[in-house]
Amino acid sequence: MNDDAIKIAPTARIYPNTRLGAGTVVGDWVIIGEPPKGCAEGELETVIGDNSVIRSHTVIYAGNTIGDNFQTGHGALVREKNTIGNNVSIGSHTVIEHHLDIANGVRIHSAAFLPEYTVLEEDAWIGPHVVFTNVLHPMCHGVAKCIKGPHICRGAKIGAASVILPHVVVGAMTVVGSGSVVVDNLPQRVVAAGNPAKIIRSIDEIKCPWDYVEHPYPGPDDPRTNLR
Ligand SMILES: CC(C)(COP(=O)(O)OP(=O)(O)OC[C@H]1O[C@@H](n2cnc3c(N)ncnc32)[C@H](O)[C@@H]1OP(=O)(O)O)[C@@H](O)C(=O)NCCC(=O)NCCS
Repeated sequence: MNDDAIKIAPTARIYPNTRLGAGTVVGDWVIIGEPPKGCAEGELETVIGDNSVIRSHTVIYAGNTIGDNFQTGHGALVREKNTIGNNVSIGSHTVIEHHLDIANGVRIHSAAFLPEYTVLEEDAWIGPHVVFTNVLHPMCHGVAKCIKGPHICRGAKIGAASVILPHVVVGAMTVVGSGSVVVDNLPQRVVAAGNPAKIIRSIDEIKCPWDYVEHPYPGPDDPRTNLR
């Protein structure tokens, strides 16, 4: 069997001007290259890299440029004109709006909502049911000028069901506790939690309460760390 073969389920719909990489698997009822409003079929190119797995009922609009080893869960939605790096995974029923910048190694859990003009740097991790926002005063007449999603720096982790307000920058490697509402920028390498989220400690001070590991997030030079 040729592992480079592209496998497309018979019920999937692939629009013209879509390029799928070698070894990519497309599940049932997937749509790839859906034209956004005002665009004709095939007007925008859609690229998905090698060895990607697009699970059933995922919809990917036209105009996305997506790297290798891309994975979606079931029923994910990716709107138009996003730039998505290599080794990115997007969980089941997550919604990615348009014009996001998603770097290599980003993992987004299930049922998250990530709006336009959000930036996720390398290895950022987004928990289930997280909601990002991009307009501080919804329906304000100046919305076109201020619309901007959060910027999640390298390796930061956003706990389950958190809400991040527009324009907020979460520093590299920082951990946001589950159910937090982040209203202000957070520096790098801290733990923040609550509503509004407050800094609790440095990530170097986190201990595993069950003693499975000494430090959940070893320092940047530690060979056990999963991040630089
Ligand atoms: C924030 C977090 C990383 C803190 O872990 P920790 O450093 O071991 O923290 P502790 O359990 O020692 O708690 C420290 C304090 O913060 C509080 N706290 C912990 N998590 C909190 C949260 N999510 N929201 C509000 N307060 C929280 C604790 O009640 C405690 O308060 P106290 O000092 O008044 O007693 C962790 O609690 C958390 O929320 N992890 C994310 C879990 C998650 O979403 N996982 C997704 C996997 S699917």
